[in-house]
Amino acid sequence: MKVRFTETVLRDANQSLMATRLPYKDYEKILPEMDKAGYYSVECWGGATFDSCLRYLGEDPWERLRNIRKNMPNTRLQMLLRGQNLLGYKHYHDDVVEKFVELSIKNGIDIIRIFDALNDFRNIQTALEATKKYANERTVASGCISYTQSPVHTVEKYVEMCKELKKMGFDTICFKDMAGTMSPWEAENLVKGVKNAIGDMPLILHTHCTTGMAYMTVTKAIEAGVDVIDTATSCFSNGTSQPATETLFYALQQYGADTGLNEDVINKVNDFFKPVKQKYIDDGTLSPKSMGTDSQALVYKVPGGMLSNMIANLKDMNAMDKFDDALLEIPAVRKDLGYPPLVTPLSQMVGNQAVVNVLMGERYKQISNEIKNYFKGEYGHSPAPVSQELQDKILGQGGKPVDCRIEDSKRTGEDFQKAKEALGDLCRSEEDMMSYICYPDQARRFLEDRKAKEENVAVYSIVEA
Ligand code: CO
Repeated sequence: MKVRFTETVLRDANQSLMATRLPYKDYEKILPEMDKAGYYSVECWGGATFDSCLRYLGEDPWERLRNIRKNMPNTRLQMLLRGQNLLGYKHYHDDVVEKFVELSIKNGIDIIRIFDALNDFRNIQTALEATKKYANERTVASGCISYTQSPVHTVEKYVEMCKELKKMGFDTICFKDMAGTMSPWEAENLVKGVKNAIGDMPLILHTHCTTGMAYMTVTKAIEAGVDVIDTATSCFSNGTSQPATETLFYALQQYGADTGLNEDVINKVNDFFKPVKQKYIDDGTLSPKSMGTDSQALVYKVPGGMLSNMIANLKDMNAMDKFDDALLEIPAVRKDLGYPPLVTPLSQMVGNQAVVNVLMGERYKQISNEIKNYFKGEYGHSPAPVSQELQDKILGQGGKPVDCRIEDSKRTGEDFQKAKEALGDLCRSEEDMMSYICYPDQARRFLEDRKAKEENVAVYSIVEA
C-alpha cells in the first residue's frame, strides 16, 4: 500500500486556524528541513494567502513563492486555484487566467489544484489549458471536486464528474470536503466507486477536522484505495484544520504503508512550529474556538461557518427566536437553487435567503441580488435544475439564464492595459500587474509602500555616504 502526504501548514492550516496571518519570516528557517520530509507536495500558496500577503502582511505574494521555491528545491509546491475566479469570486477574462497560471508556474508552483464552487467544469477549462500550455516536467494539473451532500450528489454523480475531469486531461483528481462533513461511510463508497471508474489516475482526499470525522474518514478512504491525503503538522492540525501528519504517519506504519515520509524530519517540523503557534495563541490571532470540534454542522447539515453567519444575522435583527425556522428553511432554498455545494459564497447566499424568507413570513418576497445573479447564470450551471417557479419570478415568464462565461471570458487585453496605466511606475513586473488585477486596492497600497521604503533607504544611504 502506498499513501502519500500533502503538508498544508503553510496554506490551509494557516488559513483555517489563523486567518492566513502567518508571515513568511516565521517559517523561512524550517523550509530546508521540510524539503527533506518526503511529502507528496507542500501546499503553500493560493487560496487566501495572496490576499493576506498584500492586505495584512505587507508581503509580495510572488516574492514569498519564489523564496519558498528557493528554500525547497526538491519538493513539489502546490497551490489552490478557484478556476475562472482565480483567487476570488469574480469571473476573470481568459487572458488574465492564462497569465496568472503562467506566472504561478514561472515563480515556482508545481501542482495547481483547480476547482469551481458549483463543479461547473466550464469554469476550470481555461485554467487547465493554461497549466498544460506552460507546464514543465514537474507540473501537475489537479482537477478538484467540491464535495457536498444532497439528493442529486450520489456516488454515481461523482463518478461521472471524475470521468469528465479525466477526459478533460487532468493528471490527478481531488475531493475537497471543505466543511468536513464527509463521513467514513461516504468516503469508503465514494473512493471505491471512483477508483473503479478512473483506474490508476491518482486520487486525493482533502478534508477538515471541523466536525470530528476526519481521521475516520481518511482511514476509510485509505482502506478503499485513496492515493494522497492532505494533513497538517500536528501542532497546526485538528479543529478547523486538517488531520495531523505525524499521527496518520504512525497509524499507517502499522498497515505497512509506504508513505515516503522521514519520521525524524516530520517531528522536527512539528517542533519548529510549536512556538510559532504559541505566539499566535498569545496574541489572539489563533482563537481556541477554531481548535475545537464542532458537531453542529452534522446536526444541522450546514457548514459551521454558515451557521455562525446566520446566527450573527438573526442576532443583528433581534430575531433569534426564528433560528429553528430558518434552519428548516435552508433545505428548501437549497433545493430551489438546484442543490449548490454550500461553500462561499453560495453558503452565505442560501443562508441569508432562508433567514429573509422566514422573517418576511413568505418565500422569496424579497430576493437578494446575488440570488438573482445566480439565476441569471452568473455563477455557472447549478448541479440540478433550479425551481422553475422561482426562475420565472426572477427572469420573467420563459426567461432563461444566459451563458455568462462567453462574454465574461473574452480575451481583450484591456485588464493588463488598465493595470499598467493605473500603476504607472509602481508596476515593475507582470507579477505586480497581476497582483493589481486580482486585488487592486491592496496591491496599490502594497506597491506604494514598497516605493516609499525604497526611497527612505535611498535617502538613508546618501546620508551615510
Ligand atoms: Co480546505
